[in-house]
Amino acid sequence: MSETMQPPEPSLRAEGEAILPSGSPRPSGPREDKAAAPVLACSGLRKSYWQGRVEVPVLDGVELAIRPGERVAVMGASGSGKSTLLHVLGGLDRPDAGQVRVQGEDIWAMSEVARGNLRNRALGFVYQFHHLLPEFTALENAAMPLIIRRLEKEAAFAEAERWLEEVGLAHRLTHRPGELSGGERQRAAIARALVTRPACVLMDEPTGNLDRHTAEHIQAMLAELNARHAVSFLVVTHDPELAGRMQRVLHLSDGKLESAQAG
Ligand SMILES: Nc1ncnc2c1ncn2[C@@H]1O[C@H](COP(=O)(O)OP(=O)(O)O)[C@@H](O)[C@H]1O
Ligand SMILES: [Mg+2]
Repeated sequence: MSETMQPPEPSLRAEGEAILPSGSPRPSGPREDKAAAPVLACSGLRKSYWQGRVEVPVLDGVELAIRPGERVAVMGASGSGKSTLLHVLGGLDRPDAGQVRVQGEDIWAMSEVARGNLRNRALGFVYQFHHLLPEFTALENAAMPLIIRRLEKEAAFAEAERWLEEVGLAHRLTHRPGELSGGERQRAAIARALVTRPACVLMDEPTGNLDRHTAEHIQAMLAELNARHAVSFLVVTHDPELAGRMQRVLHLSDGKLESAQAG
């Protein structure tokens, strides 16, 4: 697969559509630039759920900074708060305290509309279940984020097709999710997350629903995509093999993130 993968051309900018925020060009130098400002960072992040009057702390002072192009895994037992962390970092769930900065901007200090815009511009999401729309083809699903941005259909489909090729689905463009295997559905979901060229993709157990063999292919592909494109990945998982594909592995326990192992 890797031999046939071609990075998509940066065609979107030619369409006059502001895919990237003006003044913040896509990092194109070294794919992990330690001096560069983090694409996604949080500090002092706290969040509890309440069971009646009993506070159940889930995040209890989480600190994290993800640099451009970096691949980071967060591991933790089921119920340790991995999904909660992703939702708070991704602007989907408000923290009780602390800051989340996406490309330097404090997302929980801005309006809901501004937060939504920044999220759509800068972040991509991949979940354990693909969340593809069943009545649309792989091509239409992958193009959807661009169509929602009102990019012209032809340009959106052209870009989606490039990303579907990139994830090894060039031969499945007109298949609907029901006509794809589990691994193919997840590849389509990954293409959809990347089609807007986000700075960082947040993934919640992206291989959790796949058999080991299929999961290994997706894991290798993720590492390859990260190496080819200036995109950061934050993957939460309890799968040590997937975590092992990342450059940095952190552990979430007792509401705090700690370094699990070097590089
Ligand atoms: N909406 C919610 N209301 C109450 N408790 C929740 C809610 N979402 C998650 N929790 C609890 O918070 C803890 C962390 O959940 P979650 O972030 O889903 O963990 P993980 O993704 O690591 O399995 C769990 O104990 C879970 O039961
Ligand atoms: Mg979870």
